[in-house]
Amino acid sequence: MNHAANLSDRRGRALRDLRVSVTDRCNFRCEYCMPRDVFGRDHRFLPKNRLLSFEEIETVVRAFVRLGVRKVRLTGGEPLLRHNLEQLVARLAGIDALDDLALTTNASLLTESRAHALRRAGIRRVNISLDALDEQIYRNINRINSPLADILRGIGHTLGAGFDSVKINMVVQKGVNVSEIIPMAGHFRGSGAILRFIEFMDTGNHNHWSLDQVFTAREIIDLIDPVYPLQPLDANYPGEVAKRWRYADGGGEIGVISSISQPFCGSCARARLSAVGEVYTCLFASSGFNLRAPLKSGAGEAELAERISAIWRGRRDQYSVDRRSLRLRSGGGKMSQKVEMSYIGG
Ligand code: GTP
Ligand code: 5AD
Ligand code: SF4
Ligand code: SF4
Repeated sequence: MNHAANLSDRRGRALRDLRVSVTDRCNFRCEYCMPRDVFGRDHRFLPKNRLLSFEEIETVVRAFVRLGVRKVRLTGGEPLLRHNLEQLVARLAGIDALDDLALTTNASLLTESRAHALRRAGIRRVNISLDALDEQIYRNINRINSPLADILRGIGHTLGAGFDSVKINMVVQKGVNVSEIIPMAGHFRGSGAILRFIEFMDTGNHNHWSLDQVFTAREIIDLIDPVYPLQPLDANYPGEVAKRWRYADGGGEIGVISSISQPFCGSCARARLSAVGEVYTCLFASSGFNLRAPLKSGAGEAELAERISAIWRGRRDQYSVDRRSLRLRSGGGKMSQKVEMSYIGG
């Protein structure tokens, strides 16, 4: 049976895109993702022997590819903390039907040689998190001691390594870094990197999100346009999360990711694989589906594809569309626990 032929979920969405978390660890403690009071010294990360091996990850990815996935993104935590990541990249790059192999990183470990090694191994595109150019604001958000200059150097090495695209992800929070929007736009205009502004989301259970802290995509565009006039662009691919804009003077491109103000669940063709082998069908899900047990008992690509196909056919989540009613229903009280962003990789 050809599972890929017309695999669609209960809302008619295809499966095209897979995010693979390779570790739940990170060397940063961004306030909106891994606040220190929760992810402190005594936080227990996954023991190394629980992580899927590269061979196991490849088997699962091949199963997804049988079902129509063409785009894979490696994430963490911080994926470059996983030893020998390039070996996994090379394995995945060898899968013929995959059109796109990408990486999301905080760039702190992106030396020049590492950037080139990742490119050689087969990463095509790199997305890098950076929320401010002002050292103090950056430190307040990202809570690390490595100087901002190290991250900017990492971005420079990435730009010089020949990737198909380099994007910079800036999570925008009212009262925190709105003042950095124009400096960030000015800095990355004409650099070759595509700057993307992300609405602050209520991921996980610990980032004290409230709607008042969201600076919307519209507000972002309205702030930039008078300084650097913008024109809208079409999506690169169906279901792209960022809306694209170009600078009218040819200074390049930017994007805005509006999960809060304009949810894009209707075209969500994305699954997520945790570092221990669970499949999540939404970034805001409470639990995943276990592929680990079948993998450990020797299931191959075909059997895994059957299982994933059943998971996808049963899927109906659309958290960002339902956010308001879910939060209202919880009456300001506790929402059901969501998976942590650092665990599932965004
Ligand atoms: P491209 O392939 O370059 O378009 O990357 P991407 O935007 O899919 O991935 P990236 O890791 O750079 O994520 C950017 C932001 O989009 C992060 O804040 C992600 O959490 C968010 N994001 C990615 N996919 C989804 C999704 O399916 N739903 C929601 N709500 N947010 C998402
Ligand atoms: N809201 C929006 N974006 C977030 N990211 C992490 N936490 C959040 C959040 N609460 C972003 C990171 C990274 C990407 C994978 O997700 O900045 O670039
Ligand atoms: Fe920050 Fe990304 Fe690390 Fe989360 S996983 S703490 S967003 S660098
Ligand atoms: Fe997809 Fe869930 Fe994001 Fe909606 S909120 S776009 S269903 S991952």
